[in-house]
Amino acid sequence: MTTTPLLRLDGLTKSFGKVTVARDLTLSVGPGEALGIVGPNGAGKSSLFAMISGDLRPDGGTVWLDGREITRVPPHVRTRAGIGRTHQVPRPFEHLTVFENVLVCGHQGAALKGRRAWGHAMEVLDRTGLASLANIPAGRLTLLQRKRLEVARAMGTRPRLLLLDEVAGGLTEPEVLELVGVVRRLHADGLGIVWIEHVVHALVKTVGRMVCLAGGAVVADDAPLRVLADAKVRELYLGVMTEEDAS
Ligand SMILES: Nc1ncnc2c1ncn2[C@@H]1O[C@H](COP(=O)(O)OP(=O)(O)OP(=O)(O)O)[C@@H](O)[C@H]1O
Ligand SMILES: [Mg+2]
Repeated sequence: MTTTPLLRLDGLTKSFGKVTVARDLTLSVGPGEALGIVGPNGAGKSSLFAMISGDLRPDGGTVWLDGREITRVPPHVRTRAGIGRTHQVPRPFEHLTVFENVLVCGHQGAALKGRRAWGHAMEVLDRTGLASLANIPAGRLTLLQRKRLEVARAMGTRPRLLLLDEVAGGLTEPEVLELVGVVRRLHADGLGIVWIEHVVHALVKTVGRMVCLAGGAVVADDAPLRVLADAKVRELYLGVMTEEDAS
């Protein structure tokens, strides 16, 4: 018996004028699987997330969550159905505290109310290492803290599928490792994760499978080290990926 994928993208196509961001793209993510996505700038990675979250309508093809087609389902309904995403550029409510930012996501994204909403927000802050910053306005956070808050806000909506878009970008090495620890723990708790990242070694430490996208198409889909050793992938990353990145 085959299990129903948590997420399935079937023959997605999308172009902005002459720029194609999805080219007959077919991809599945299993329940509780952690998938990494790499690919050069402009490959269509963030656009893919936007099509999964419902922020961008594909020109063709279908999106499925747990065996249900959601291609035309609006973003807020997809959030309630279990899709949580971060944005490449963090988008907190700057004037609200860290706690309030996560609380709002629980209200809006998971219909949580009262004490359950508070309890859930506190639990998310614990799991993302932000509990000690709960009462700080988001506008005063450092980059690492903002990236963590972006993860916490997505977690606030109680997702079963967490989409992470370059949450390690711009962080120092120790900060990247801290974030890897957070994501690994979320995955260990059973969450399905798709993580787009240019900091390739963070992915290698976290995901069991990796996809390389270029020009809106899947160039490689395999175990992380096999993808990074793939000749086509190395050519795409020529001069960008070092030996250290791949190790
Ligand atoms: N709303 C839009 N309108 C027009 N062009 C767009 C739009 N969104 C994305 N694009 C273009 O589509 C291409 C893919 O963009 P996308 O953000 O998906 O790339 P990416 O793989 O996430 O790149 P990066 O690694 O730089 O984040 C780019 O050329 C971008 O300029
Ligand atoms: Mg992007």
